[in-house]
Amino acid sequence: VSEKLIIKSSKGEYSVLFSDGPPDILSSMLADKTHFLIDANVARIYSDQFRHILSMPNTILIDAKEENKSIQNIIPIFEALIANKARRDHMLIAVGGGIIQDITCFISSTLFRGISWKFIPTTLLAQADSCIGSKSSINLGKAKNILGTFNPPNEIFIYTTFLDSLEKKDIYSGIGEILKVHVIDSFSSFDRVASDYDQLLTDGDVLRSYIREALLIKRRFIEIDEFDLGIRNIFNYGHSFGHAIEAATEFAIPHGVAICMGMDMANRIAVLRRLIDEPHYFRMHDVLRKNYASFAKTSIPFDLFLSALMKDKKNTSTNLVLILPVGNAALIQRIEVTPDSLFEDQCRLFLEEMSA
Ligand SMILES: NC(=O)c1ccc[n+]([C@@H]2O[C@H](COP(=O)([O-])OP(=O)(O)OC[C@H]3O[C@@H](n4cnc5c(N)ncnc54)[C@H](O)[C@@H]3O)[C@@H](O)[C@H]2O)c1
Repeated sequence: VSEKLIIKSSKGEYSVLFSDGPPDILSSMLADKTHFLIDANVARIYSDQFRHILSMPNTILIDAKEENKSIQNIIPIFEALIANKARRDHMLIAVGGGIIQDITCFISSTLFRGISWKFIPTTLLAQADSCIGSKSSINLGKAKNILGTFNPPNEIFIYTTFLDSLEKKDIYSGIGEILKVHVIDSFSSFDRVASDYDQLLTDGDVLRSYIREALLIKRRFIEIDEFDLGIRNIFNYGHSFGHAIEAATEFAIPHGVAICMGMDMANRIAVLRRLIDEPHYFRMHDVLRKNYASFAKTSIPFDLFLSALMKDKKNTSTNLVLILPVGNAALIQRIEVTPDSLFEDQCRLFLEEMSA
């Protein structure tokens, strides 16, 4: 382990340990009282290193598909844990990306009213963003992430060597969340990561330093507002539009890439509604576009997009609640918008421009 970060939460402190070596911690976690919940792709790719864990009767493999992050599809996982004689004093160990994290975190909050868990994130998105912050999210039908709990793991182990086997689209997805966190941090923070964008794709050391940086920025916010009742809301920047894009395309676009489109859309709509000046939009557009370019032409049916947007969990009963840049410093803020025909036209215009 090369470095340790401590996060304060309502349940006490938990640690994030970084290593660029092999994921040796896993074999030392083998015990009768541990239940591994492992991404099936990760289990396949790392079958040699995980041989002992995969031969344990308590190990459960999960396909990291968005439809598996649903109430009906997690029932068999609860059943498997019960069949494997899980108890309240046992430990769940999640190995995978945000989907395995969300499922394990939700199960750990509800099974026996709470069972401890640890997390070994294997995607860039999970290492640089989702692993801290306590949230679990489960989908209900097409409404994404509307069921959930707050329940941090006891420990997180970041092995950046897992990133070597990720598909390019999942690297873009993780970079999407890294960009988001830096926009929220400040104007200059975003400009710095934007100027290092090409190195993020090619230089492991640069990528590792931004993983750490993104977690440090996020830590500042979650330690003040773990339960997302105030300032942490701005971490939903790009998410109302991004989740609606994911739902309308049946999750054909990776989460962090859809968030990147959502940020570009939020910035464009902020210009159209005169909340920011156009140069701010262009300042961020080039890098956001580069990061979502391979999905820009995906067909996004407008009616499906709009109906998903209307179901966003942040909305009030009459208004959409959006997170938009505002003012000379393009500060990210919570803004209520009436879902009228003008707003619909602004959304349609952006989606047409994006796919042109
Ligand atoms: N709880 C939170 O705070 C939070 C925050 C952000 C996103 N999320 C959720 O996270 C999910 C997205 O997660 P994600 O982007 O981490 O990916 P993911 O879990 O969807 O996995 C993406 C793909 O990568 C594969 N994979 C995982 N690790 C791999 C590795 N090391 N090598 C090769 N392939 C690997 C998976 O099998 C899958 O095919 C979404 O459902 C999103 O809503 C949750």
